[in-house]
Amino acid sequence: MSIQWFPGHMTAAKNNAEKAMEINDVIIEVLDARIPGSSVNPIIKNIRASRQRPHLKILNKSDLADQKVTEYWLEYFNNQPKTQAITVSAKNKNDVKKIVPLCQKLAPHRNSAIKPLRIMIMGVPNVGKSTIINALHHKKIAKVGDIPAVTKSQQRIEINKETILTDTPGMMWPKISYELDGFFLAASNNIGANAYDEIETALELADVIKLRYPESILKKYGLKAPFPDDELFLDSIAKQRGFVLKKGKSNLEKAAISFINDYRQGLLGKISLETPASREKMMKKND
Ligand code: G4P
Repeated sequence: MSIQWFPGHMTAAKNNAEKAMEINDVIIEVLDARIPGSSVNPIIKNIRASRQRPHLKILNKSDLADQKVTEYWLEYFNNQPKTQAITVSAKNKNDVKKIVPLCQKLAPHRNSAIKPLRIMIMGVPNVGKSTIINALHHKKIAKVGDIPAVTKSQQRIEINKETILTDTPGMMWPKISYELDGFFLAASNNIGANAYDEIETALELADVIKLRYPESILKKYGLKAPFPDDELFLDSIAKQRGFVLKKGKSNLEKAAISFINDYRQGLLGKISLETPASREKMMKKND
């Protein structure tokens, strides 16, 4: 299966992001700490590179990710040019407090009400942009208004007199190059449910978790090694949770959705689906 997802409004969002990037000083890209490689948007990467803006990568949802693996990713991103990476849980206000001072350091010449620091925040849908923005302006949203000639859905928010944030709509890209990225994005809720197959996604997710965190699955579903393969795994979840169709057949689709939801909510423990090394290996294999 390949997951394809690029509705028309995303093309408009891309063009608008390009325009907005010209008038911002620092670009924040929010990534999902569980899939930091898969949630990098290649469109953002390309337009950012052409504009040469300092860049802050926020590995969000760190409360759901494997801390050790997140450290590897931080090191990996911090070694990239003009890039600073931090880890955050948007649900933790103290974490979010780190963001604006870091952006100020990245563009120190923009530091007054006359020359306010202009930050643009981007990322795939559901990665936590709104949660971060809401935590950033702890009082009320000072909506400066839509940027003329850009788009109604980009919003300028005054964080304080010296800092303006531009929020952009979540953006996907036309073709996901690596199949596994599609599954990771689907499992992590970054792609609309009608664009992927739940059973297939659940099985791919299970394969990765089985390899990296076998204990978490065995414990959660009361299973014993050796790990049941493919549909037998979903069948065991269905039986355990009473997901039964007519004539006593297991409802594998419901089991798949429930397994994916357990992962999304962190009920399987802190899980990272990829490391810089596993990603490199995956890319080499597919090239
Ligand atoms: P977006 O603007 O990028 O589209 O994402 P948004 O902030 O709407 O966040 C999408 C979902 O991710 C929300 O869950 C939000 O609560 C959750 N989320 C955001 N940041 C974090 C984080 O650091 N850790 C965890 N665990 N979750 C995070 P939801 O179920 O859609 O809404 P809610 O019921 O949690 O409010």
